[in-house]
This record gives sequence, structure tokens and C-alpha cells, in this order.
Amino acid sequence: MTSIRTQVGIVGAGPAGLLLGQLLHLNGIDSVIVENRSREYVIDRVRAGVLEQGTVDLMIAMGVSAGLCRAGLRHEGLYLSFNGQRHRVDLADLTGGRAITVYGQNEVVRDLIDARTTTTRPLYFDAERVSIRALDTSGPIVRFSHGGTEHDLHCDFVAGCDGFHGICRPSIPAGVQTIYERGYPFGWLGILAEAAPSSDELVYTYHERGFALFSMRSPTVTRLYLQVPPDEAIESWPDDRIWEEMLERMRTGDGWQPNRGRIIQKSVTPMRSFVAAPMRFGRLFLAGDAAHIVPPTGAKGLNLAASDVLVMARALREFYEDGRTEWLDRYSDVCLRRVWKAQRFSWWMTSTLHRFPDESAFDHQRQIADLDYLTSSRAASTSLAEQYVGLPMEVSFEAAGLRG
Ligand code: FAD
Ligand code: PHB
Repeated sequence: MTSIRTQVGIVGAGPAGLLLGQLLHLNGIDSVIVENRSREYVIDRVRAGVLEQGTVDLMIAMGVSAGLCRAGLRHEGLYLSFNGQRHRVDLADLTGGRAITVYGQNEVVRDLIDARTTTTRPLYFDAERVSIRALDTSGPIVRFSHGGTEHDLHCDFVAGCDGFHGICRPSIPAGVQTIYERGYPFGWLGILAEAAPSSDELVYTYHERGFALFSMRSPTVTRLYLQVPPDEAIESWPDDRIWEEMLERMRTGDGWQPNRGRIIQKSVTPMRSFVAAPMRFGRLFLAGDAAHIVPPTGAKGLNLAASDVLVMARALREFYEDGRTEWLDRYSDVCLRRVWKAQRFSWWMTSTLHRFPDESAFDHQRQIADLDYLTSSRAASTSLAEQYVGLPMEVSFEAAGLRG
């Protein structure tokens, strides 16, 4: 057993853990990141694609935006498609020039791992038997095994950035947190295809047969999603069936449809809304998916991970600079304000765009009217646009030690 000492022990090297590690580094605060998967696994996992304007600005301010600026695709609009017609929502026009950037989570994570490596601060991949203890003392410990050696990592604070299935949230004693949860009677089947995107912007489609989403990763790779029953077996979706269904739902009256290509990845994701509050127990602070999950329809999950760790960085900076705990004490409340608004938006986008098994003919007509209103009223599209490009972060970059 070896004993290691750091200021902040970070569990998980996803977007939350890696962004936090870099923010702390920029403030001269020491951290050790402990990840139970391999470097390759963490980078290859296909997930998010849409970065809010604020997340892009944050990565630029943190100096980790070289790849993002080179390969990220800035989108100033998106399409909502229903009744066989696409309607463009001009995000930039409606929000005073703000936009989203399509840049795969894989790339974000790869860039952040490279940045971490450059700092030479520790990042352990393939850690085994990770556990946390003494959370309600001033000396919490992250225990893990690496390469056959047991380590006790002594910290001032533990950042639980280990995603929805991690060990940090379950380490909080029963009764401390309130769980708010909502399931949905469908999942998403997602594919990556070797095909040039046939639209420059995302297309969210509401169709009689269910929701479909057109997105992309690069000028040669298209990313597509289909609403399917929850727990759908991927084996029941051979490639030909996927394309048939995609085209059936997405094709519009003017002949637009996605380009076909070789499918290089496919998987089914369940949909869930989840919040565990407060996001803190003693010296353990949860961030990102470890504390909350949104259905992907609003493209908010990774962006919330970024806004959480910005608040955490501010709180830790204040603690180390002048011993004040005011922001640590406010951490959960400050994060949850933004989290709940993103929860509401993600639930609303999901409810508006999917077909529900128990819906009535009335519900269906109401959804069409919702979409008609959304795409014909400037007030309604402005509301969508400001939430889609991202509501303001609760903390300024300067307060988190960045130049802004
Ligand atoms: P994670 O990315 O889950 O990272 C947690 C890390 O902790 C992982 O590396 C994991 O291996 C590690 N870990 C787990 N257990 C342990 C342990 N015991 N010990 C050590 N390490 C551990 N979000 C958006 O903002 N925009 C989108 O467009 C978008 N699209 C999505 C599409 C899909 C299909 C899916 C599934 C998600 C999408 N999301 C999107 C959500 C986004 O991917 C997540 O919200 C984001 O990954 C959260 O980051 P995180 O760092 O909190 O958690
Ligand atoms: C993606 O490109 O993976 C993506 C885009 C928009 C979403 C969800 C996922 O709402």
C-alpha cells in the first residue's frame, strides 16, 4: 500500500473530471485523476456532439481549443422538421450572434487528456477497485489499485466526476440526497456512417413513425438517431432496416434526405431525466452525469458537466486563496439552478419531438401545433434558441481564475 497526497482527488476522466483538472491546474491547485477504464476506451466511446457557445468559450479561455477551432463545425441554425417540411431556426439571429459547435466528445476528451499530459499532473487509467472514504472528515481518501499496487490518495476534497454508473454518488449515505427521476417509454438508436452530411445543420424530425435526428461529426461522417422502443436489441436492426427507417422518417417533400454510407458504429441509449440533490456530501462534490442525467434531445449533458466544474473551480479557488468556504457551501444550489433549467428544456424538447405509446389523437395534434407555433413565432423560436445555444453560466470565467 502506498500513500499519495494531493489537494483534490478527481474520480473519473470524462469531460467533467478532465475539465476540472485543467481548471484547477490553471489556478495552481494540485489534483490526481483516477479513471477505471483505459485511455483508448475513454477516447473511443461515442457520445455527445453539440457544444454550447459557453462551453466553446470556456475551452478557448482554458487554452484547450486548438482542435476545436481547427475541426469544430460552428452552426448558426438548426432545422425542425414535421409534416414533411424543414423549418430553419436561426440561432445566431435570435440570440445576438451565439451559436453551437459540433465537435465530438471523443475529440474533447482526447484534447483534454493531451492537455493533462502536458501539465505532468497525475492521471491514472485502468484503476481497479476504486472506492472513497472519510468523506465527512477534512481528510477524505480515494483508494484504488493500479498495476498491482494499492494506493491511498489523501485529499482535501474529492470531486465525484465518475458519471451515472460511478461509485461516488452511491458512497453518500442513504437519506442524504433526494432523487428526482423520470423515465421515457423509448430509447435512441444511434449510428455513425461514412457519408458526407447532406445538410450543414442539424435536423430534428417529428414523424408519425417516431423521432429522428440528423447530425454529423465531420465533413465525411454523419451521425443519425432514431426513436426506438426502450431496451431495443441492436441485433433486430440490421443496417438495411436502419437506413430504410431513417429515410422514411427524415425524407422531406423537397427531396432532402441523409446520404447513405457504411455504418461504422451503432448502439441503443436509454432515455432518462435524473437529479440527485444536494450535489455534495461533506468533502465530496459531485459534477456532471454523476449528479444528473438529461435525455439527449436538448444536447445538454456534456455542457452541464462543464458548467458544474466551472462553479467547483471557483469554489475551490476561493478556499485555497483565502480559506473561505462560502462558494463551497453554495456549490450545489448554484449548480442546480442551471441544471433544473436544462432538465426542463431537455424534457420539453423530448416531449415535443417524440411519439408516446399512450398518446391520443388530441396529443398528436397538440404536438404538431406546438411545432407550428415554435417555427412561426419569433417569440417561441427565440426561447428555443437561447436555451439551445446555452443559458448563461452561473460563474464568470474571471471568478474561476481565467482571463475571460
Ligand atoms: P462521463 O462522460 O460518463 O465520464 C465519467 C468517467 O468516469 C468515465 O470515463 C468513466 O469510465 C469513469 N468512471 C466510472 N466509474 C468509475 C470508477 N468507479 N472509478 C473511476 N472512474 C470511473 N451531451 C451534450 O452536451 N451534447 C450532446 O450532443 C450529447 N449527446 C449525447 C448523445 C448520446 C447518445 C449520449 C449517450 C449522451 C449525450 N450527451 C450529450 C451527454 C454526455 O455524453 C454526458 O452528459 C457527458 O459524457 C457527461 O460527462 P461526465 O464527465 O459527467 O461523465
Ligand atoms: C449528436 O451529434 O450526437 C447529437 C446532436 C444533438 C443532440 C444529441 C446528440 O440533441
